[in-house]
Amino acid sequence: MSVHVVIGFGPAGAATARLLVDKGHSVRVITRSGRSPEPGIEHIALDATDSEALTEAAQGAVALYSCAAPPYHRWAAEWPPLAASLCAAAEATGAVLVLLGNLYGYGPVDGPLTEDLPLAATGTKGRVRAAVWERAHTLHRQGRIKAVEVRASDFFGPGVTDGGHLAGRVMPRLLRGAPVSVLGDPDAPHSWTYLPDVARALVEVAGAEQAWGRPWHVPTQPPLSAREMVERLASRAGTGPVAVRRLPPAALALASLFSPLLRELKEIRYQFERPFVLDSQAYETALSVRATPLDEQIAATVDWWRERPGSGR
Ligand SMILES: NC(=O)c1ccc[n+]([C@@H]2O[C@H](COP(=O)([O-])OP(=O)(O)OC[C@H]3O[C@@H](n4cnc5c(N)ncnc54)[C@H](OP(=O)(O)O)[C@@H]3O)[C@@H](O)[C@H]2O)c1
Repeated sequence: MSVHVVIGFGPAGAATARLLVDKGHSVRVITRSGRSPEPGIEHIALDATDSEALTEAAQGAVALYSCAAPPYHRWAAEWPPLAASLCAAAEATGAVLVLLGNLYGYGPVDGPLTEDLPLAATGTKGRVRAAVWERAHTLHRQGRIKAVEVRASDFFGPGVTDGGHLAGRVMPRLLRGAPVSVLGDPDAPHSWTYLPDVARALVEVAGAEQAWGRPWHVPTQPPLSAREMVERLASRAGTGPVAVRRLPPAALALASLFSPLLRELKEIRYQFERPFVLDSQAYETALSVRATPLDEQIAATVDWWRERPGSGR
């Protein structure tokens, strides 16, 4: 049994912590708000930007999983101190730092996204996320920390709620057979990364020394448009066809006046207006996690949403 520290307990942190418990490890989870205890997990309430407190909480750990994120509209101010603190704790403890990243750093690209593309984003959010990895990678190359980044496309699956595009805004309506609205072009092919596969990849990479020092894309099924995903989900749920509409730009503009999150989506709207395809071949060639079969993903997602209070038919 070894000690693993998971920073953040949103969908990815929770899935990763629970997977580590299932594998028999001792798990400490760090969030600012803390949580009630649950079997196998010690929840610690601290602000991970406090590097002294984080280092103290990470004593004896073999791996630190960065599954945290500041609120979406405060990334520019709050990611740099968080990244600095994560690196400092990794350096002080010797634990491998496993960063969960996204695809923003590449910026708009024609064709599938591979890990060897430059982090060429010019938007604020993309630059911020690129800088998180660049800092860790530099320290890794200097031999001061051990670091690796695992990048995922938009999360999909059980446990994904507000932060998913095929989740809280879609699933409860879909289960009632009601029309759903999606961001961008409903027919643009899009990569959806299954949340349990994110957790499995984070844990695998943490234990695979040969994988450290570079980014990896989480094994992900071939892209499907939002409309195709909704068709499959509705078919599994047995609701009959569910209409899929583009979120009207005027409604989005209006909602953005009240929601900092929607306002912030402007920078990454390109990801939903044209094909957005993650290539995970490098991971599949070098490591052993594979994307869960799509039918299994769809079934588990429908079942999970059905069991949530207020979501079923
Ligand atoms: N959602 C997606 O589709 C997607 C796709 C690819 C990559 N990602 C990335 O995956 C990571 C995890 O995302 P998620 O959606 O699972 O999580 P999330 O819902 O954004 O939750 C963030 C977690 O981080 C904690 N946190 C934030 N600041 C903290 C701090 N200073 N100290 C300690 N804890 C802190 C929060 O708890 P407290 O507020 O209690 O501190 C919360 O538990 C993020 O970096 C995200 O960008 C997400």
